[in-house]
Amino acid sequence: MAALIHAGPAARPGPLSGLRSLLASASRDSRVFSALRGRATASTPRSGPDPYDGRCGDAPEATRRHRAAAAATGPSHPSRSSGGSAPGAPRSTTAPPSRGPATAVSARTGGPTGTRTRRRRRQGPPLPGPQAGYRPRHLMEERFPPDIDMETPSIARMYDYLLGGKDNFEADRKACEVLASGIPELVSFANDNRAYLSRAVEYVASQGVEQFLDLGAGLPTANNTHHVAQRANPHARVVYVDHDPIVLAHGRALINDSAETAFLLSDIRDTDRILGAPETQRLIDTDLPVCVMLVSLLHCLPDHDDPFGMVRRLLDRLAPGSCVIFSHIVSDDPASGVWLTDQILSFGTPWGRVRSPEEASVVFEGLELASPWGDGRDEDGPRAVDCASWRHPDVDPRFRPDDPGVKLWELAGVAFKR
Ligand SMILES: C[S@@+](CC[C@H](N)C(=O)[O-])C[C@H]1O[C@@H](n2cnc3c(N)ncnc32)[C@H](O)[C@@H]1O
Repeated sequence: MAALIHAGPAARPGPLSGLRSLLASASRDSRVFSALRGRATASTPRSGPDPYDGRCGDAPEATRRHRAAAAATGPSHPSRSSGGSAPGAPRSTTAPPSRGPATAVSARTGGPTGTRTRRRRRQGPPLPGPQAGYRPRHLMEERFPPDIDMETPSIARMYDYLLGGKDNFEADRKACEVLASGIPELVSFANDNRAYLSRAVEYVASQGVEQFLDLGAGLPTANNTHHVAQRANPHARVVYVDHDPIVLAHGRALINDSAETAFLLSDIRDTDRILGAPETQRLIDTDLPVCVMLVSLLHCLPDHDDPFGMVRRLLDRLAPGSCVIFSHIVSDDPASGVWLTDQILSFGTPWGRVRSPEEASVVFEGLELASPWGDGRDEDGPRAVDCASWRHPDVDPRFRPDDPGVKLWELAGVAFKR
């Protein structure tokens, strides 16, 4: 597997490669560490009574400004007026179904095996290049606070790795390798989903919605929600919510540079806590439309958490004109869905499951779906589509990827509460 992870000239072993890798890793990890240290001292005390007690800089002026503007101009949204093994190695050795390589997962290394895997990898975009660098365990333990679990892959850090980010650990990268052995399109999935998020936020902001609750926000990357929303509407305000402490640390260090944004460390299932948090109270007025972002999120929750009921109850508390931006990993091939779900759970990573398109579409019940066409057309009516095709300038909306061999995709749609 190492050969696959580090396939590239830069990774070829040479006299300096170990040192270079260590330095690169040290620089990256120290950046993470500084952010975490900032969090520990300035914001969320690890030993405090409430580990989710997120705080950020105050912005009373902004609050006054946007409330005054809202009062002066009235509603801007059209509908407002209406009211045990190696880290990251899987315990499961199930081979991926359908397009997956015949012997894709090695029980010994937890990674893909054989030339067949190597041939398949070329079919999809490659995983991000070598970034990891080996760090002796004792050094890592010294550098990171104990509440960061570096051994268990985290969804936020895996996603960061797939997007080409650097805020991930070896366990996250190994886990992505395992998943990519069965899903060569994995990197495209992540990038298509992220691009969908941008298009959807831009669309919603252009419809006059200026409050965004970005649930399961993920690590900051290019075109974060408040960047996109504020380009369309400078008054847009965003509360980012995630339960991953590294997301919080980086969010505050890198994004919280705007009076109109805040970061909350919270489980999304704790709706009361999210709506009642001082940051939310400061930036979000639930009497005005709110965009609830559920982008690549609800598959992280198992059925017994009732993720769709949770969304319904949240929307019940929001004003008409509120909306959801939604995407969810789905499959029309149960075996493929079960394979991905089993793999992620085998890492020890908290997760839900891949659902069928019909199961995921429950989120839109009682809401009004927006057209997935970007040019005003509405052929076939509003519907949920493959996220890569939602209001894409060059791709017609399609329910699923054109390639029948692709069994998993992110079903996406934007829908309004009327
Ligand atoms: C695949 S990432 C998606 C990130 C971002 N929404 C996007 O689409 O670019 C899923 C995110 O949801 C977060 N997450 C998963 N379960 C969560 C929970 N129960 N509470 C809060 N955040 C959660 C993860 O930490 C991760 O950052």
